[in-house]
Amino acid sequence: MIGIVKGRIANLNKHSFYLTTPIYYVNDVPHIGHSYTTIAADVMARYKRTKGFDVFFLTGTDEHGQKIQKAAQACNKTPIEYANNVVNKFKELWNKLDISNDGFIRTTDELHCLRVKKIFQRIFENGDIYLGEYEGWYCIPCESFWIESQLEDNKCPECKRNAEKVKENNYFFRLSKYQKDLLAFYEKHPNFIQPEPRRNELLHRIKSKVDDISISRSAVEWGIQVPTDPSHTIYVWIDALMNYITALGYDDDMGKFKKYWPANVHIIGKEILWFHGVIWPAILMSLKIDLPFKIFAHGWWTIEGQKISKSLGNAIDPLNIIQLYGSDAYRYFLLREVPFGLDGNFSYSALIQRINSDLGNDLGNLLQRTLTMVEKYFNGIVPDDSVPEEEIEKLSQETNNRMINEMDELQFSKALEIIWEFINYINKFIEDSKPWALAKSSNSKPQLAKVISTLIKALRNISIFIYPFMPKTAAEIQRQIGIKEDDQHICFDIRERIKKGTEVKKDKPLFPRIEHTVTVQ
Ligand code: ME8
Ligand code: MG
Repeated sequence: MIGIVKGRIANLNKHSFYLTTPIYYVNDVPHIGHSYTTIAADVMARYKRTKGFDVFFLTGTDEHGQKIQKAAQACNKTPIEYANNVVNKFKELWNKLDISNDGFIRTTDELHCLRVKKIFQRIFENGDIYLGEYEGWYCIPCESFWIESQLEDNKCPECKRNAEKVKENNYFFRLSKYQKDLLAFYEKHPNFIQPEPRRNELLHRIKSKVDDISISRSAVEWGIQVPTDPSHTIYVWIDALMNYITALGYDDDMGKFKKYWPANVHIIGKEILWFHGVIWPAILMSLKIDLPFKIFAHGWWTIEGQKISKSLGNAIDPLNIIQLYGSDAYRYFLLREVPFGLDGNFSYSALIQRINSDLGNDLGNLLQRTLTMVEKYFNGIVPDDSVPEEEIEKLSQETNNRMINEMDELQFSKALEIIWEFINYINKFIEDSKPWALAKSSNSKPQLAKVISTLIKALRNISIFIYPFMPKTAAEIQRQIGIKEDDQHICFDIRERIKKGTEVKKDKPLFPRIEHTVTVQ
């Protein structure tokens, strides 16, 4: 336990921040659900970088196991040929969505495979792995073992598809041995698993009973061989979970591991919480490695009210949405529409509504109106801001502080609400201070200058606030208000003054109105 405490403090001192997404199966192309988790992680990564953290943001692909083997067979490809093709689709989507991951791990990477074998061997030597006989059920789409009593009408309780009966010799991991230590850990770290209702569910389940789990397959070829017994492959979930440490070089190239582990947060979907909240911590305990700080299990998206599924054919391709509305609008919508942790429903009408009202009306118009006034009243040069509008300065600071609180809890929709309160306050500030009236008399020119420079500064601060969510829009706002000097440089400091003589570059409106007639698919 002392080791854990030390590790946690040491990591905090370095201000490193390590966050991960699940590694996605490559049996199928990415859909909105995968993009949701990755966007959320990207928002967090960008946010932490702007706050000065040394961030390592990892995503990747889970490529072994029966499901991929089957998918490849069905189209006459080798598993690796099949995987290579889908991996490119994931990478292309992450690129289009401005995902700023620092690492991309594939479980077929040679180093990952070598490291998984070593780790397996170590757990074996610790006495936590034994050979036994498994008799039960297996769901290929979920790559999950189930006991008879867990099935619902012979179907997988998770995805409701047919499970198959399995009887084979397997290696088992002594999960039951860790039941007490796990419970003690959850007790001591009440924020370890979030959100709260999912933590409670998990606690309830682990308190009732924990069985040892099968961690190898003797009937599956496409996987990493058990080091001591080549007639088995390592169960795909064990291989996959280990990515979070093999990607940091554990344990033959420990530089990154020392710097970034324990992970600050594993962001996952709710359906894989048992693997991340119970099995993974137990494996780490067996290896005597510190546990991550947080596991956040978010909710599930449905599409126009229906479960997303390959067989229903309703899995919307995020590339289509990006092409129609741009990646920032898509990123904004997903994180604004649903509180992080709850389930959500995707519909085109809700997306268009958000674009027209929040992005077009509230934000886009604010920029346009302000720039028009800078052109009209000050020939396009931002007036000097030597007398700051104190109330708005204070409000910027407050917005920043409130946003920090929400972001640190991964409450993205609340952070966005807070930003939009600020945006709407600024819109009201224009109405209240009536610059068009001030412009009528030369006596009120200093007052007009103060209003306009305040607006530019407010817009600059808005761009800083929205940057993690909408990096392109943030840069575009800074470009149009004339403070972005080159392609790289974005201002992240809400206290910085606007340089004297800054010239605005009014351009196209940010989010032009979309008519509701668009139908897609
Ligand atoms: O489970 N709504 O991979 P996977 C929200 N390889 N998020 C969704 C979603 C939806 N409808 N559908 C998918 C695996 N996701 C394993 C993970 S990690 C060591 C191994 C997201 O391809 C969500 O993050 O089935 C979910 O947990 C993940 O994609 C599952 O992706
Ligand atoms: Mg899945």
